[in-house]
Amino acid sequence: MAGASQPTIIAVANQKGGVAKTTTAVNLTALLALAGKRVLLVDMDPQGGCAVCLGMDTEALERSIYDALVKPEVGIADVVVPTAFDFDLAPANIDLAGAEIELKQALAAETVLQRKLKPVLDKYDYIVIDTPPSLGILTVNSLTAADKVLIPISAEYMALRGLRMLLDTLENVREVTNPGLKIMGILATRYDGRTINSREVYEYLREFCEREGLHLFPQVIKQSVRFAEAPGYQTPLVIWRKDLDGAKQYQKVAEEVINGEV
Ligand SMILES: Nc1ncnc2c1ncn2[C@@H]1O[C@H](COP(=O)(O)OP(=O)(O)OP(=O)(O)O)[C@@H](O)[C@H]1O
Ligand SMILES: [Mg+2]
Repeated sequence: MAGASQPTIIAVANQKGGVAKTTTAVNLTALLALAGKRVLLVDMDPQGGCAVCLGMDTEALERSIYDALVKPEVGIADVVVPTAFDFDLAPANIDLAGAEIELKQALAAETVLQRKLKPVLDKYDYIVIDTPPSLGILTVNSLTAADKVLIPISAEYMALRGLRMLLDTLENVREVTNPGLKIMGILATRYDGRTINSREVYEYLREFCEREGLHLFPQVIKQSVRFAEAPGYQTPLVIWRKDLDGAKQYQKVAEEVINGEV
């Protein structure tokens, strides 16, 4: 055991697609690194979005998180690459889609990532895990390895539909593989204050979180086309344009995380 220098492991999860999981994981990681923390970003999504946001070519990867998950002789340290933003990345590419099937045949398939992370725990203050838009074995591995889950929810009606199913899954993971798993909070993303829809969804989330005893980040992430532009500059928004509102909003979220309030 790594003792005092255990990192905080944060899984960014929501089985709904396009709710800003990857955007949140990448920008939070960049801000934690900017604050002087030692951070590893683990991409558990075969879409490989983390590397794409950082301008890295996932096709050209010699090794990826896939190799670490399915090959006993490959460790996480063997697939980790440094990024230009002072944090490390365990990148994914489409190979990881195959791990869905291969992992199912492994013994204790849900705990593979948790076990693989052990040797590198003392190298980091935070490990942030980006997850795919499903509740399959890759997400369950991520939730099993994590201390806390951050749930981004796009501020629109359709995005609310899967929330109960996600919470049930978290409860399941707690019962079966990771009793210590905590919900860090729900983060409203793609919020458009001009629409009644966004305001109503936020109000619904506020009441829901109060009822369920969940933390709702007071800082919402507003809808901004800049988020879609940032990957084109191969840089997380919070580094590319610190001055923009979107960057400042993620900064508030990161402060809450660093201060240990969530
Ligand atoms: N606050 C925002 N305002 C506008 N667009 C955003 C915002 N956050 C993210 N986006 C854009 O929405 C799209 C989906 O975001 P992202 O890839 O982060 O979601 P995701 O939940 O990781 O998706 P997936 O489920 O496919 O992994 C991207 O094009 C991204 O640039
Ligand atoms: Mg994603």
